[in-house]
Amino acid sequence: MYRSALRLSSLGLVLGVLAAPAPAVHGGPVRAAPGPGSYLDSRLPVEDRVADLLARMSLDDKLGQMTQPERRYVRPEDVTRYRIGSVLSSGGSAPSPNTPQSWADMYDGFQRAALAAPLRVPIIYGADAVHGHGNVAGATLFPHDIGLGAARDPALVRAIGAATAQEMTGTGVDWNFAPCLCVARDDRWGRTYESFGEVPELPAAMTTLIEGLQGDRLGGPASVLATAKHYLGDGGTEGGRDRGDTRAAEQELRAVHLPPFREAVKRGVGSVMVSYSSWNGLKMHRNGYLIRDVLKRELGFTGFVVSDYNGIDRLDGEEGFTRDEVAAAVNAGIDMAMVSSDWRRFIGYLRDAVRDGTVPMSRVDDANRRILTEKFRLGLFERPMADRAYLRTVGSPAHRALARRAVAESQVLLKNAGGVLPLDRRDRVFVAGRGADDIGVQAGGWTITWQGAPGPVTRGTTILQGIREAAGPSATVAYSRDGTGVDRSYDAAVAVVGEQPYAEYHGDLTGGMDLDAADLETIGRLRASGVPVVVVMVSGRPLDIASELPKWDAFVEAWLPGTEGAGVADVLYGATAPTGRLPVTWMRDASQQPINQGDGKKPLFPLGYGLTYG
Ligand code: GLC
Repeated sequence: MYRSALRLSSLGLVLGVLAAPAPAVHGGPVRAAPGPGSYLDSRLPVEDRVADLLARMSLDDKLGQMTQPERRYVRPEDVTRYRIGSVLSSGGSAPSPNTPQSWADMYDGFQRAALAAPLRVPIIYGADAVHGHGNVAGATLFPHDIGLGAARDPALVRAIGAATAQEMTGTGVDWNFAPCLCVARDDRWGRTYESFGEVPELPAAMTTLIEGLQGDRLGGPASVLATAKHYLGDGGTEGGRDRGDTRAAEQELRAVHLPPFREAVKRGVGSVMVSYSSWNGLKMHRNGYLIRDVLKRELGFTGFVVSDYNGIDRLDGEEGFTRDEVAAAVNAGIDMAMVSSDWRRFIGYLRDAVRDGTVPMSRVDDANRRILTEKFRLGLFERPMADRAYLRTVGSPAHRALARRAVAESQVLLKNAGGVLPLDRRDRVFVAGRGADDIGVQAGGWTITWQGAPGPVTRGTTILQGIREAAGPSATVAYSRDGTGVDRSYDAAVAVVGEQPYAEYHGDLTGGMDLDAADLETIGRLRASGVPVVVVMVSGRPLDIASELPKWDAFVEAWLPGTEGAGVADVLYGATAPTGRLPVTWMRDASQQPINQGDGKKPLFPLGYGLTYG
């Protein structure tokens, strides 16, 4: 990451700055300014720099490094005063105006404040760029993970990571809370679309995203820290309930949910985020066996472990921190607490726990060693400011072309009776459905806002616009949202239906998994005209459509394509033949959930199913 650092002419200037007395926060003298060969000397090995810095840090310096407030609840002057180590933007938390430039200004503001503290330890800034830099207006949005699982193209996923890292780098954000390596076992789960698939091999293969994000080596050009999440078993909860309980023998937990994290550690992932969920009734945020003994010792993970958002303060099932919760989480191996608003209380409780010995100083030092190591590796001490040279990559034509390719590769053709697809460019085509001309619907959750929303929420190409571009000059492409106006003069009708945006537990399904009435009515109108009906489903998971499928002539699962809807049209018109294959088993009936490969249940479509043309 070539960051246009605050160009300090020489170490001497730095030493001068360091010598300036700083307001001690809670006691603890500012140690002598570092000489050459100190942690500020980038020629030294990282472990030496960490050791030198650690030796200079007061307890409050160390507690601040372990604290991650959300941007809305911390001021730059707080970052200086409390030695805060990291700030995050939670889903949809953006500066105003929401432009890439104002993101870079915001980032630099927090970073300058961090550098104003005596030891000048830079912050690392985290965000959920989980399908591109989704919080940022105008960013390129790629298919959500389930679509990339259907594409089964690890090299493509690496390229997506690299493109996402470039767009992040321009805005300063240097830590991505991605990839999600969950193994989604129950499609009722609201985060199914954040999974690459129902078997561990798929998310394990897509850990190439880590290499794309971090680069060949952390700290290279446009390199950001990746996060393997959510450790461990978040996709295996009872009933697919988000943040629920995964009840499984250790052998099953290790066989199904651990392999993607083992692969992520092999690929050098810099951070791991702990799951809100529990394993056999024990909250992951206090599971010292799985975090300390398995992740850090057995798998050899040397990066740092971050909690999920306010994940620590839910350990007792009640809102709000207790000192016991803080001690339990930190002693279990959590190195940084994503504590959103109540971060002063977190620091106070942790200081008390250290002072009374509940949390050993060695645990605090280990956490700081891990955090500082990743900051040094990332090059933050040398290049702390946003690299605005990359601002021009945000939403760039090259990135959108990559996203369009990913959309096309992720399409899964599940039915094509009579070869109604591919459409002919001369065809008279009638397009309908709530998802046809709606960027927000096709992008899904984690888009501009946490939950996402229908409507023109960001820049891109809708599926209808893609169809219009793909159709020839002599063709007719008509559109009505509910199908009104269709008649038998058309060669084909395309209904783009499916789910409205959601994220996390808001997407949990406890009742049926059917297409809703509006979509079924739209399809019915098209069918009544007598023309062949192509159903394109924009959804984050399989839905219960077996009883409707016989009425459809063709069926394409588009997943959640992101900003480049033209990739769907590329497949509908045959510019790209469909190659996508199901990353999850498609139920015959919602009562089959959870349904997965090898469980003996008879699905509508098996894992790996997908048709192509001709
Ligand atoms: C959320 C999610 C996690 C995300 C974090 C920060 O609740 O569980 O995936 O990275 O908070 O937004």
